Amino acid sequence: MSDTDLRRVEVALGERSYEVVVGHGAISELASVLPAGAKRAVVVTQPGIPVRIDPDLPHETVEIGVGEAAKSLTTVERLCRAFAQAGLTRHDVVIGVGGGMVTDVAGFAAASYHRGTPVVHAPTTLLGMVDAAIGGKTGVNLPEGKNLVGAFWQPSGVVCDLDALDSLPERERRCGLGEMAKYHFLTGDRLLSMPLVDRVARCVEIKAEVVASDEREGGRRALLNYGHTLAHALEIATEHRMAHGEAVAVGLVYAARLARQLGRIDQSRVDEHVEVVAGEYELDVALPAGVRLDHLVELMGRDKKALDGLTFVLDGPAGVEVVSGVDEAAVMAALREME
Ligand SMILES: NC(=O)c1ccc[n+]([C@@H]2O[C@H](COP(=O)([O-])OP(=O)(O)OC[C@H]3O[C@@H](n4cnc5c(N)ncnc54)[C@H](O)[C@@H]3O)[C@@H](O)[C@H]2O)c1
Ligand SMILES: [Zn+2]
Repeated sequence: MSDTDLRRVEVALGERSYEVVVGHGAISELASVLPAGAKRAVVVTQPGIPVRIDPDLPHETVEIGVGEAAKSLTTVERLCRAFAQAGLTRHDVVIGVGGGMVTDVAGFAAASYHRGTPVVHAPTTLLGMVDAAIGGKTGVNLPEGKNLVGAFWQPSGVVCDLDALDSLPERERRCGLGEMAKYHFLTGDRLLSMPLVDRVARCVEIKAEVVASDEREGGRRALLNYGHTLAHALEIATEHRMAHGEAVAVGLVYAARLARQLGRIDQSRVDEHVEVVAGEYELDVALPAGVRLDHLVELMGRDKKALDGLTFVLDGPAGVEVVSGVDEAAVMAALREME
């Protein structure tokens, strides 16, 4: 297969199965993933997103605000009203074109409108392609916290057009790389040695496989949160000056240090984490200046995934797994190693 060919990855979820098309120019396949019978579409996007689409259906385009503040119920109301004004029915389709913020909001508006209207995603950031647009988690923020209101709503299809990445700011690219480094540790795959199209398709495949085995996060899907317990705390402690993917990079190395503190892995495996994240992926793995370690521990204890004390996804002899009730002294000792 050449670098110009499209890859097609299936997310196998029985009657909710769908295809993710990955490649340069993949947007030309949009019509092929629209639900049969859709007679009109509303495209949800943002100003500045350089992708123009032609769903080959009568359609309107609605632009939403940029940034996490616009990932809100207010935006969902605006969208649902726009759907109603456009005469959208639950046999039609919503198309989200943008980063994870757009696909999360468009997906949640679609999940709610007429109790569920099909949605198709065209992610335009690396993070959207390898993570946010795949797997059916949708939602918005509240002033009280991120992603607190949402629904599982699988798309009918996803097109990842790699050409969109040409205009992506460097910092956004690095955020996508943070999630990609996570997939490295879940599988051991040398993703960076693959051509871009195979690299993105492989990440989609890894996420698709985990989601297919545990759609609603009863267990295994939580592995996708590798590196995320500290990452979420860092995002809050820095008031989001640290972006999610940047925080995940630090969180991956931290998870390794904590696993070693607990005797689950040895120092060479910790060194490997540093080599991969800081060396190969060239991401920053230091704690940001000015964060208090005790504040991070407190925030990690409040993580919404923490069902039973301090909960982490940790590497170990049996691979990466969820570990609850982790001793606070070990959590603090591993943080001190990062100072
Ligand atoms: N649903 C999930 O499973 C899941 C998983 C991970 C993250 N997320 C969510 O995804 C969001 C983060 O997504 P993101 O990192 O894509 O950020 P984002 O959607 O906020 O996009 C970042 C910025 O890049 C701009 N942009 C997007 N595509 C561009 C392009 N091709 N060229 C130039 N600029 C472009 C956007 O307008 C925005 O300003 C968060 O809200 C997070 O909660 C969801
Ligand atoms: Zn993440």
